[in-house]
Amino acid sequence: MLPKHVAFIMDGNGRWAAERGLERTAGHRAGTENIRGIIRHSKDLGIKYLTFYAFSAENFSRPAEEVGFLMKLIPEFFHREIRELTQEGARIQMIGDISQFSRPIQLVLSQAEKLTKHNDTIILNFALAYGGRQEIVRAVNQLLQSGKIEVTDQDISDALYTSGMPDPDLVIRTSGEQRVSNFLLYQSAYSEFYFTSIYWPDFSVTEFDNALADYQQRKRRFGGL
Ligand code: FPP
Repeated sequence: MLPKHVAFIMDGNGRWAAERGLERTAGHRAGTENIRGIIRHSKDLGIKYLTFYAFSAENFSRPAEEVGFLMKLIPEFFHREIRELTQEGARIQMIGDISQFSRPIQLVLSQAEKLTKHNDTIILNFALAYGGRQEIVRAVNQLLQSGKIEVTDQDISDALYTSGMPDPDLVIRTSGEQRVSNFLLYQSAYSEFYFTSIYWPDFSVTEFDNALADYQQRKRRFGGL
């Protein structure tokens, strides 16, 4: 069976650029370019949910120049892609603490959400200023503020940014690193993980198909037998 929800840790942009004698920013640009093909292929296959880890809460601590570049690249991506994504029936949702971005960026992000909110062919989550622990803390605080003194698994799931969506079946991390890096901590309890040494800008549709074929060999037991 194909996964319903695939999440991507798009790692290795910097190393991709360094290997070519380019600035790290060129790697981020190439990484951004790579997203489109992955979305289109997922849509063709009928994969309904994709989540992209585009900027972690911790990424704000990178050198100001790199953060500044990403702060231009992110709104530019939505400006450029929104028309095609809308035509493809994509619904765009941001997950993360968007309030950490400047007002103009927040506006671009919320407009992308607003323009696509009635679409239903494919759901795209962009994790921005996102941290899995922060997301859980936020959910618990919301539940406390609502007066709860005891919570269920479902209560917490419903208070996460991904409320109402299936958990990721498959989490793909590129670039050879094998860690979770504060991504979808609650939601990935039973996710399958796929690690590849390919850098994100080179993670082609063929590589994606390899990951999907690998996933299809897995025996998912969810703790049972
Ligand atoms: C990891 O590569 C990647 C990031 C920190 C950002 C990912 C961002 C993009 C692909 C572009 C922005 C996305 C959107 C949706 C507009 P790295 O810099 O950690 O690479 P390295 O580990 O090789 O240094």
